[in-house]
Amino acid sequence: MKAIEVNGSGLDQLRITERLDPTPKKDEILVHWHATSLNFHDYLVAIGGIPVPENRVPMSDGAGEIIAIGEEVDQWKVGDKVMSMFFPNWIEGTPTFNKTRFISGETVDGFITEKSCVAASAVTAIPKGYSYAEAATLPCAALTAWRGLVTEGSLKAGETVLIEGTGGMSIFGLQIAKATGATVVATTSSEEKAARLKAMGASAVVNYKTDERWGKTIFKMTGGGVDHVLDVGGGSTMVQSIEAAKIGGSIISIGILGNGRKGQITFPKLFFKHLRLKGIAVDCRLSQEAMIRAIDVAGFKPVIDRSFGFDELADAFRYQETGKHFGKIVLEW
Ligand SMILES: NC(=O)c1ccc[n+]([C@@H]2O[C@H](COP(=O)([O-])OP(=O)(O)OC[C@H]3O[C@@H](n4cnc5c(N)ncnc54)[C@H](OP(=O)(O)O)[C@@H]3O)[C@@H](O)[C@H]2O)c1
Repeated sequence: MKAIEVNGSGLDQLRITERLDPTPKKDEILVHWHATSLNFHDYLVAIGGIPVPENRVPMSDGAGEIIAIGEEVDQWKVGDKVMSMFFPNWIEGTPTFNKTRFISGETVDGFITEKSCVAASAVTAIPKGYSYAEAATLPCAALTAWRGLVTEGSLKAGETVLIEGTGGMSIFGLQIAKATGATVVATTSSEEKAARLKAMGASAVVNYKTDERWGKTIFKMTGGGVDHVLDVGGGSTMVQSIEAAKIGGSIISIGILGNGRKGQITFPKLFFKHLRLKGIAVDCRLSQEAMIRAIDVAGFKPVIDRSFGFDELADAFRYQETGKHFGKIVLEW
């Protein structure tokens, strides 16, 4: 069976290899994976920005069908459709080192592979009516937006949410916020994407490239700031995220886009605005199941910008590099 492995750095080293068909242990399931989706984290693994052991199979998201089960597995049957977990060991509760040290596509193999065995507890069902490609968009990007707004933010109808940029995580933030009855304000660098954001229900969109003080602009246009910010840029966005937040608001630190690994913030703004600043990394199985139940009720589908084939992983990452996408990029086979 085919798998793609990371060996070194740069997209050209991504190579298809042949592996033996695996057999599940007594507490494992064998899954025939059919789709994965691209996250910025996967890109960093692929280019060597996050070092991984030799022959690592990248990609933290996967969706597929169970084709065999170990003798002690009773929660799944052959034919069930499942999706992966970013942290396969984090079932519930607060994160700990042991629960989060295994990361799919980084410290353990990910899902750009035809088949693999995983613990029966390391997958969840997929939402009703979802294709494999649609389900493969959820485990990292959607669950992070879900945690930021629902688990951590206790988002309520009538509150205002700021999403930044139009990548996969942010578009899920928009969809979850709209499904909850919240108002959404967004930023983007593109006028064309601004129109798409408005068509999806964003009430205001600010161009962060032409308006460097977009946080102040959003604070003014919302009449005193937003309740929730999903910050995707760290050092490159946090100062403006703090400006955009309302007094007593919540800022969730999620990413480092735009070279934002490090940065400076104005601390008096943080404490005199009584802000809650929380860093998060995805979420646990229990939350993934709660999110799926919510999607089943709300009925929204992910925005898939473009689909590639199994053999086109490097091309898909090159497309992601351009920043032209709106929502998710997937690979299906
Ligand atoms: N902590 C976690 O658990 C977690 C989970 C998922 C993602 N993340 C992080 O969240 C970030 C987004 O991830 P993703 O997978 O959604 O990425 P993505 O799909 O590659 O999103 C890229 C988009 O972000 C926008 N962007 C780029 N630079 C920006 C900047 N300086 N300010 C504002 N927006 C900017 C651009 O949107 P426009 O074209 O509209 O300008 C770009 O198209 C990444 O840093 C990723 O590592 C973290």
